[in-house]
Amino acid sequence: MIGRPLFWLYLFLQFHIFIYLTNRIGIRQHKRINEILWLILFLAGQLIPSFFLIRAWDFTPTAWVHLNPGWKFLTSGVFLWVFTLYMDHGFWLLFRKKPVKTRVLFKRYPLTHVFPAPFSFLRFIGFENQIYDLEVSEVEVFLLNWPKAWDGLSLVQISDLHYGLYIHDDYLKAIVAEAKNLKPDLFVLTGDFISFKKDVPRMRTLLKGLRAPLGSYAVLGNHDLWADGPGLQKVLADDGIRVLRNEVVYLLRGKEKLALMGVDDIWLGKRNDQPILAAKAEAKILLAHQPDHFYLAKKSGAQLQLSGHCHGGQICFPILGPLVVPADEGRKYAGGFIREKESTLFIHRGIGGYPPLRTYCRPQVVKLVLKSIGG
Ligand SMILES: [Fe+2]
Repeated sequence: MIGRPLFWLYLFLQFHIFIYLTNRIGIRQHKRINEILWLILFLAGQLIPSFFLIRAWDFTPTAWVHLNPGWKFLTSGVFLWVFTLYMDHGFWLLFRKKPVKTRVLFKRYPLTHVFPAPFSFLRFIGFENQIYDLEVSEVEVFLLNWPKAWDGLSLVQISDLHYGLYIHDDYLKAIVAEAKNLKPDLFVLTGDFISFKKDVPRMRTLLKGLRAPLGSYAVLGNHDLWADGPGLQKVLADDGIRVLRNEVVYLLRGKEKLALMGVDDIWLGKRNDQPILAAKAEAKILLAHQPDHFYLAKKSGAQLQLSGHCHGGQICFPILGPLVVPADEGRKYAGGFIREKESTLFIHRGIGGYPPLRTYCRPQVVKLVLKSIGG
């Protein structure tokens, strides 16, 4: 059995379906019943029959032909399900995904091979651990309805640090130095600073260098709120970073206002969209840890939403891309730019993550320069 490629393919397809379903568990926590039903469906429809399938089939193509119709239905169903997921993603990429006009001004990799990465033996099977291979880039983004008064606004986004054992002090200091070097008008940090409560006091002063003319703002992520949201908020405030929890701050350029809106995490934060919907300004940016808050960007008329959370998939495969993307839209929301209606969403690939392994998915610090379309 172990030596049969079809056995491994079947396991891979089952794993894929499991990930597809579990990605959605907790995503719509307010619809928890659906998730439990899905899980029961998976257990009843996949796992238990698979256990019996292993006894009925030796995973050779010739034996498959002689299986009874029930097993043929199960195995074909598993294949078709995953095939449909990939086809849906492919069609979306090719035909339905709306273009976002961007221009990469530069890209560099200043820390490659500076810090030794764990799991380095994986390079022998083609998977370099890029956990410390930071990509620093500057990208112009052309936004619909972006007011001329705010044309050229630059911000540096950092996300999903998951500061701790692997995203250690030296690496974090190097990241902050790179970010500072980009000299933006504004710093934004889109959550998941930590994974464990013990790391909150240790983080004090490490982000202090992120000072910019228009300030430094943050939203908290699910991991922050699991660990110690209020404690982290205090540490960040002491270091000059203001956390927005369903709050709006107004920035000024002459008389023109920009509403910088921060919404609490969609899983664990307080659900209150009202302050965001009530914001009044020509230019609006929504900070939301999870890309699933995109509905709020569209509803509030924000030209741009900045998110993280999905880590670009973190562990990605050539051609296949990522398997685990904890967003309602799954792999579509792994990373990069998405546009719907008049709003653009940018999903940052983040810095850290558990396990401390990133393949075909570099961590990033990015400077976005916001331009009016046609400008
Ligand atoms: Fe997260």
